Amino acid sequence: TPLPDLVIVGAGLFGLTIAERCAEELGLRVLILERRHHLGGNAYSERDPETNVEVHKYGAHLFHTSNERVWEYANRFTSFTDYRHKVFGKYQGQVYSLPLNLALINQFFGKSHTPDEARALIAEQASEFDTASASNLEEKAISLIGRPLYEAFIKGYTGKQWQTDPTELSADIITRLPVRYTFQNGWFSDTYEGLPTEGYTAWLSKMADHPNIEVRLETDFFAVADDYKGKVPIVYTGPVDEYFGNSEGRLSWRTVDLEESVVDTDDFQGTGVVNYNDGDVPYTRIIEFKHFHPEREKTHLPGKSVIVHEYSRFAEEGDEPYYPVNTADDRAKLLKYRDLAAAEPMVLFGGRLGTYKYLDMHMAIGSALSMYDNKLKPHFAEGAELK
Ligand code: FAD
Ligand code: NA
Repeated sequence: TPLPDLVIVGAGLFGLTIAERCAEELGLRVLILERRHHLGGNAYSERDPETNVEVHKYGAHLFHTSNERVWEYANRFTSFTDYRHKVFGKYQGQVYSLPLNLALINQFFGKSHTPDEARALIAEQASEFDTASASNLEEKAISLIGRPLYEAFIKGYTGKQWQTDPTELSADIITRLPVRYTFQNGWFSDTYEGLPTEGYTAWLSKMADHPNIEVRLETDFFAVADDYKGKVPIVYTGPVDEYFGNSEGRLSWRTVDLEESVVDTDDFQGTGVVNYNDGDVPYTRIIEFKHFHPEREKTHLPGKSVIVHEYSRFAEEGDEPYYPVNTADDRAKLLKYRDLAAAEPMVLFGGRLGTYKYLDMHMAIGSALSMYDNKLKPHFAEGAELK
């Protein structure tokens, strides 16, 4: 079989965006290698066969963007519902509306505050530490929102996310802890927001549905690398350390264990996401997927619901890498990998694993469109060197 014009490692949103642009606009023959049994990367979802509820298999995925180009591009492959994401948080037997806002402040302190009164209260409580000299995450958080809100809404949750006491965590894990002195409790503040009407897998499959694109599933790049390396341009979206055989050491990641179950009730928690802020509850949050698609109510099996308990921890070998830990040690290794990547002939590194960066979906698409504009199109259409 002849070589394709371009090989892409990974069928996530980054790889799919590159593939679609190169096939559709440049007429290239593109081969995508994907080691999982499905395309879509971490945005992949499936209908639960018993209840017909769509479950995001790698954690809840909510689409939102303020980038006009990304929004227009995504809408070529799917429409979006008018879902607006909200998050609630349980603490000591009460449920609060997140993020930190006036309703939460009033409920938590048991009294109504005007925006100015709430601002003055939090400023007074935050004066315990100075932000610039905070020596760990706990001091930094208290310097921003004060001790009472920190102890209720940050301490337990963050401790569980990192499996580490916040006094042992670096202050630069958080830069800001915004407090809204209004009752506005939409989780995102982007121009556009919604969920793909027919589901993530329909959207992502449509991107790859092109006569010039072949997706080869259950194929690990490293098993077939000799067929392509040095012979054809490659866009690699797998883990950058793995590409180089972990020569500079492994980059560290956090992972999330997702425990899925079907419960015997129509409605388990009345909303999509409830955070568990108490430190002694072992999970960080519970997702109830049917609430992401209220417009599908009649298609869901009555009397049942799919819920997922999430447990956060440091990833070990073989775990799914979800969030970069990004210690000083990781950053030093990353610089070495970046040099190796820049010197690797005919290979471009992209996506969240290839750059060791947390990217939301709209960022993965936006960054792939930039790589297409700045590197791939100049190479294939104008003969520029690929680097
Ligand atoms: P991925 O989706 O990870 O795709 C990379 C692909 O490469 C994978 O399919 C992998 O199997 C494949 N691969 C790796 N190595 C090889 C190899 N050697 N050979 C073959 N294939 C290989 N974004 C949002 O916008 N909203 C959200 O609410 C949201 N929630 C998230 C929740 C969680 C828990 C996580 C982890 C991410 C979330 N994201 C969210 C981010 C979203 O998942 C990413 O933006 C998206 O996955 C990035 O796409 P990607 O193509 O860079 O990477
Ligand atoms: Na302060």
